[in-house]
Amino acid sequence: MIVFDNKRELTTYLDELKRKGLSLGFVPTMGALHDGHSSLILEGLQDNTYVVVSIFVNPTQFNNNEDLEKYPRTLEKDVSLLQTISEDRIIVYSPRASDIYGEKIASEHFDFDGLEHEMEGRFRPGHFDGVGTVVKRLFEIVKPDRAYFGKKDYQQLMILKKLVSKHDLGVKVIGCDIFRADDGLAMSSRNERLSKAQRAAAPFIYKTLNAAKAKFGTNSAKEITDWMQEQFENHELLTLEYFLIADAETLKTIKQKSTNKSYRAFIAVYAGEVRLIDNIALN
Ligand code: PAJ
Repeated sequence: MIVFDNKRELTTYLDELKRKGLSLGFVPTMGALHDGHSSLILEGLQDNTYVVVSIFVNPTQFNNNEDLEKYPRTLEKDVSLLQTISEDRIIVYSPRASDIYGEKIASEHFDFDGLEHEMEGRFRPGHFDGVGTVVKRLFEIVKPDRAYFGKKDYQQLMILKKLVSKHDLGVKVIGCDIFRADDGLAMSSRNERLSKAQRAAAPFIYKTLNAAKAKFGTNSAKEITDWMQEQFENHELLTLEYFLIADAETLKTIKQKSTNKSYRAFIAVYAGEVRLIDNIALN
């Protein structure tokens, strides 16, 4: 497995592959890889000759220093996992911050036509400027044919589609299904930080999302939102930050359903210090 830590050597290597007409998939990650990441990489390997996996804990997308410091960094373990997926068709790029940002670690400011002001944008100021900045730079370095992102971070996926179309980046952005543990909890690097009791409680999030989906045919968005709040009101280990139902394209919270539109339910929950997000298609 080839692991590059700088863009100069990486791009020299990738240019050679492109000259041969080989196709390139790209899966950007922050490492601490799990089966959710693997599912994206496997999809990439189906469509492309090679898949570049970047591993970079991007400082500008954290709005909480403690979260950034506590984010797991497990490069050796990550590379071992990638080796079990494919020895010769995965290329790893694990840069230092200076390779991406130069001297000054700062975000660009983006206008994502309002997508950035909803949900996570409200609760994590500056987060999507940080994500947009790093992904735009990574796209400019790797220049992939296709890039794969999980619907686990559905808002991020929609914003990155917007980034590509607004800035003409020439990458096809592909959204991949949410990969879950057997008990329904969406895989996340943050799950490692849950205590035993919190981990045992966390599948409640997906259980209630499914219940909300079942109610969607017959109940209003407001009724479902109220019901959801009740479910978490007296929960011992999980605190609801937000639950809402939104238009799957505009991400605007809805008050009323209309026909011919797709809707999703979105949730953010704290288990102690650990913030977990999930979402589900409702129709
Ligand atoms: P990270 O949280 O490491 O996630 C990398 C990719 O894996 C994202 O596209 C995310 O949606 C996807 N992913 C994570 N858990 C998943 C699951 N359970 N099922 C399906 N996909 C899953 O998202 C980021 O990193 C960063 O914001 C990044 C895009 C790399 C920019 O720094």
